[in-house]
Amino acid sequence: MSGGETFGAKVFGVYVHWPFCLSKCPYCDFNSHVRHAAIDELRFLRAFEREIETTAARAPAHTVTSIFLGGGTPSLMQPATVGAILDTIGKHWAVAPDAEVTLEANPTSVEATRFRGYRTAGVNRVSLGVQALDDDALKELGRLHTAQEALDAVTIARGAFERYSFDLIYARPRQTPQAWAVELKRAIAEAAEHLSLYQLTIEPDTPFQTLHAAGRLAIPDEDAARALYDATQEICDAAGLPAYEISNHARRGAECRHNLVYWRAQEYAGIGPGAHGRLDRDGVRYATATEKRPEAWLMRVESIGHGLITDEALTRGERADEFLMMGLRLAEGIDPMRFQALAGRPLDAARINDLAAHGLVENSHDGCLRVTQSGFPVLDAVVADLAA
Ligand SMILES: C[S@@+](CC[C@H](N)C(=O)[O-])C[C@H]1O[C@@H](n2cnc3c(N)ncnc32)[C@H](O)[C@@H]1O
Ligand code: SF4
Repeated sequence: MSGGETFGAKVFGVYVHWPFCLSKCPYCDFNSHVRHAAIDELRFLRAFEREIETTAARAPAHTVTSIFLGGGTPSLMQPATVGAILDTIGKHWAVAPDAEVTLEANPTSVEATRFRGYRTAGVNRVSLGVQALDDDALKELGRLHTAQEALDAVTIARGAFERYSFDLIYARPRQTPQAWAVELKRAIAEAAEHLSLYQLTIEPDTPFQTLHAAGRLAIPDEDAARALYDATQEICDAAGLPAYEISNHARRGAECRHNLVYWRAQEYAGIGPGAHGRLDRDGVRYATATEKRPEAWLMRVESIGHGLITDEALTRGERADEFLMMGLRLAEGIDPMRFQALAGRPLDAARINDLAAHGLVENSHDGCLRVTQSGFPVLDAVVADLAA
């Protein structure tokens, strides 16, 4: 995979957000909600269909190359609902025959029959939220499944889909590099082609933040987190699953094509509550976002045909900064010429030289600028330096 060959390819992603979960995990600040009354899935489906139609009218003549059903917990949707969403996308846009269609699934809501139903509906890849292979850690993370149940879900995924991935959270309270190494190697033995490995972050307005602020939840400090990060890279590299993005590992060619659309700053539509999109019109890129609250989104779509509350043209500078911020997450890095075309100015050579002298960035053989293994743990600072 090289920056040059991919930047020219015409890709278009569609993200669909299902905003409900069975329970709210205390670390999570995604747009996910728990409802004690039954959710009117058919009513949501009608609203998804309507918003897809409106969005396709606004971004016509695109060929969809990837679809991602994310959440929340999309595996709480009936396979028939997923099938109807995919059919609607196919009715309003052309869909490439080899389009990647991913569904995020929570091990708690996995059954084999349901997975086969998703497969029949057109899903060809699942991403499972395993989070940990340790029951005490899963309990502390507020998960409703055990490690064995998560592994059973992986087995079911393997039987139903050619492509699957799962997520783990590391840098958890009291986690040592030794214990993480054992857990990660076990995970790699179960993984086929792709793993997402996220360092636990304390997000604002979550129960974990409250506990952390009260001194009741200690997470690894910077040095300990760095040791865990280094162990992760070493073990995954040795297993043939190098990081292609700061938190995502894959065998060559098995990268998540949908997420690459975001990281390569390409075009995508966002459907559903709180979904973001990036759509081009007359050479200008628009950042879109829909109403986050599920029921408010529903009513908005039912009355005006879409849930958009933000639809802003990005300035050249904003677009260039976004390109930098997203692209430098990738191991392949960014094409400095594309930055220059977007920003109307080149990257600052003196700053690049300075960062390179500190071993934080380097040039790849095909002329891309990329962050080094030592630079990734301080990625935010590197981006801030280059964007300023
Ligand atoms: C939107 S969730 C979807 C997965 C599905 N709902 C589940 O939990 O099984 C995407 C992933 O983000 C990760 N994540 C969420 N909050 C996080 C946090 N505070 N720190 C690290 N990873 C987090 C988890 O690994 C989670 O699987
Ligand atoms: S981690 Fe997944 S299951 Fe937990 S609240 Fe977030 S979206 Fe829902």
